[in-house]
Amino acid sequence: MTVDKINKESYMRDLADDIVRLKKEKNAVILGHYYQRDEIQAVSDYIGDSLALAQKAMDTDADIIVSCGVNFMGETAKILSPDKKVLVPDINAGCSLADSCKAEDLQKFIDENPGCLIVSYANTTAEVKALTDIVVTSSNACKIIESLPVEQPILFGPDRNLGNYINVQTGRKMKLWNGGCIVHEKFSVHKLEQLKNEHPEAKVLAHPECKKEILDLADKIASTKGLLDYAINSDCRKFIVVTEPGILYEMRNRCPSKEFLTVSAENGSCNECEYMRLNTLEKLYACLRDETPEIKISKELCEKAAQPIYRMLEISKQCGLIK
Ligand code: 13P
Ligand code: SF4
Repeated sequence: MTVDKINKESYMRDLADDIVRLKKEKNAVILGHYYQRDEIQAVSDYIGDSLALAQKAMDTDADIIVSCGVNFMGETAKILSPDKKVLVPDINAGCSLADSCKAEDLQKFIDENPGCLIVSYANTTAEVKALTDIVVTSSNACKIIESLPVEQPILFGPDRNLGNYINVQTGRKMKLWNGGCIVHEKFSVHKLEQLKNEHPEAKVLAHPECKKEILDLADKIASTKGLLDYAINSDCRKFIVVTEPGILYEMRNRCPSKEFLTVSAENGSCNECEYMRLNTLEKLYACLRDETPEIKISKELCEKAAQPIYRMLEISKQCGLIK
């Protein structure tokens, strides 16, 4: 090992120790998404998908929640725990899906389409949630849509790929917002086909934010947690993973004897989410130390945005998806 590498490793270890110490001193909890850098997942108290992290944010008795993911996740934590301090390592960690649906544009649609139920993916701003009837995540979307009356007109947004997948699975004809995830839309169909040919024994795991051409080649389509559970419970030893590669940290931890391969974009780039990767161990340490950046949402907006999330949790409980 080079001196530089040894120095870097001991620097990262010290930072991680300082984070753990600060966390205890301040009674803080760190919630990490599966797409976070490995070193952030390693110091997180809980790692999970967006649904599990929302539930943890609601249930925690910590005084401070540090949301390591992207801003809509920090906002969801604040909406569900408005009296707690919610910190994020980098306030610029946005999401192309949340950016694609502005509250004023959604309001315009609502005004022009009275009677249409608004179902929004969790990847939206607090303002959009406040205009929404029911929030869904990729782990409960199909079940929630199935629970609604067949004749009910629905707008689903902002992810057109997830919306299209739900329409196919449920036989509904929801109107779809025209948004997309810059990470999942870039996976190369051609490179996935090549990998499948080279590893015919491997199962393909894909997130429903991927394009239809990718989903058509998948053995399992599910949320990050659903894909992880499938890999853990499957007898198969090799998987081709078509989602943000941060999930490989937990897949390899939980399945050390299994092999996980990744697919790139057509230009060979590795499809990391540039927003998720803005969070670093240094920024996490600084945010715990200085208690900033903080997610701030007015009480009134929190109350409005919480209603469609409570509806999601209620239906998920009725459908047996969560306890
Ligand atoms: P999950 O709900 O599966 O955690 O996905 C969130 C996300 O942003 C996927 O790109
Ligand atoms: Fe948003 Fe896509 Fe990044 Fe998920 S992977 S946070 S949907 S940009």
